[in-house]
Amino acid sequence: MTHTPQGDSVALRFADRDASFPTATGTEGETAFEIKTLLSGTGLVTIDPGFGNTAACRSDITYIDGAAGILRYRGYPIEELAQQATFLEVCHLLLRGELPKPGQLDAFAAELTAQSALPEGFERVIDAFPSGTHPMITLAAAVNALAAFHTENADPTDDDQVERATIALLAQLPAIAARIHRTSAGLEPVATDSSLAYVENFLNMTFGKTEGEKGPDPLLAKAMDLLLTLHADHELNCSTSTVRVVGSSGATVFASVAAGINALSGPLHGGANQAVLEMLEQIQNTEGGIDTFIEQVKDRESKTRLMGFGHRVYKNFDPRSREIKKLAQEILNQPGANDPLFDLALQLEERALSDSYFVDRKLYPNVDFYTGVIYRALGFSTEMFTVLFALGRLPGWLAHWHELRKDPDTRIARPRQLYTGPAQRSVAARDNA
Ligand code: MLT
Repeated sequence: MTHTPQGDSVALRFADRDASFPTATGTEGETAFEIKTLLSGTGLVTIDPGFGNTAACRSDITYIDGAAGILRYRGYPIEELAQQATFLEVCHLLLRGELPKPGQLDAFAAELTAQSALPEGFERVIDAFPSGTHPMITLAAAVNALAAFHTENADPTDDDQVERATIALLAQLPAIAARIHRTSAGLEPVATDSSLAYVENFLNMTFGKTEGEKGPDPLLAKAMDLLLTLHADHELNCSTSTVRVVGSSGATVFASVAAGINALSGPLHGGANQAVLEMLEQIQNTEGGIDTFIEQVKDRESKTRLMGFGHRVYKNFDPRSREIKKLAQEILNQPGANDPLFDLALQLEERALSDSYFVDRKLYPNVDFYTGVIYRALGFSTEMFTVLFALGRLPGWLAHWHELRKDPDTRIARPRQLYTGPAQRSVAARDNA
């Protein structure tokens, strides 16, 4: 991580006091000014709900230009990674800084395969939840509990332990997700198969083998791999920020990732892929279909939201959604694979993008819009969609947690507030109040 010192500074004048703050420039020329001394030097704090104007750290991992629709992992454009790299290569890139050289990938894959089975007795944690429990509840609890089965790797200050915990998480999350899928569907678990690659093994543990096949359908495995790649990191989104905030307290990587999973579960974040599918089903069952739905969304009194559209950062298009739409077309245009919900999604997008209400508000399909119809085609239940997002996002969370550990600027996350409650008052005087 390099800091670029700048001659420039930002001046602030408040109550006859002058203060100046140094600027810093990112790789692509974006400029920030550092307010580390704002409170001590001026007595002021900033108010920035949702942190929309606050860079919480310097990071070498992911670059986004929201206005231009650019997303890069460690400098590589997402479109190139989508076409020319596998999810495992992307994991290596995010965690170790570079795409693997020949030989490195095999070694990395072997490390993961060696740890891919769940620790003995761990199944009880997953199986303990009542039937009907949302898979994200089980997933977060399971990852938290994983620490109890890896006590020899739980010290966040020890480099070797942290490395082993990282590999264990990456290796075992597929088995956890697959078991959650099978348990919720009332199916017998399928053991890990060390002859299969990472993504194929996950699909096999989830759906089992088809008679006469060595592993899952290659097109479905390619689709799953691509979706995981496209979800692998997205800089300081809500769940990654949560992982960082929890990690900043010195909590273990298991506790930090479990917190990230809980943050992801909300419908405004990872839970949106499930919400899109439910919205499409609702439109399908509504009299008046898309037209009625669009009118409801535009009606300020109605609480109806167009899920899977719009993004805090992208104000033009989300580059991941383009790749996902192409993939959805490839999968769902196969003979016999057509899904009326995909046709509905295409019509809804066309309708919204020709309506000035959505265009003026810069509302475009985001990563969640077409994801669900693909997961559905692969055979996942709607409630599993956000678990799949978590599986993809894991290397990003881990990379950020590692970066935070090594960053000399890291301090425990502890924002300030502007107090607006009652001024001092006395308990004794309460009856006269
Ligand atoms: C993500 O990929 O995490 C979502 O697009 C949300 C975000 O970046 O804020």
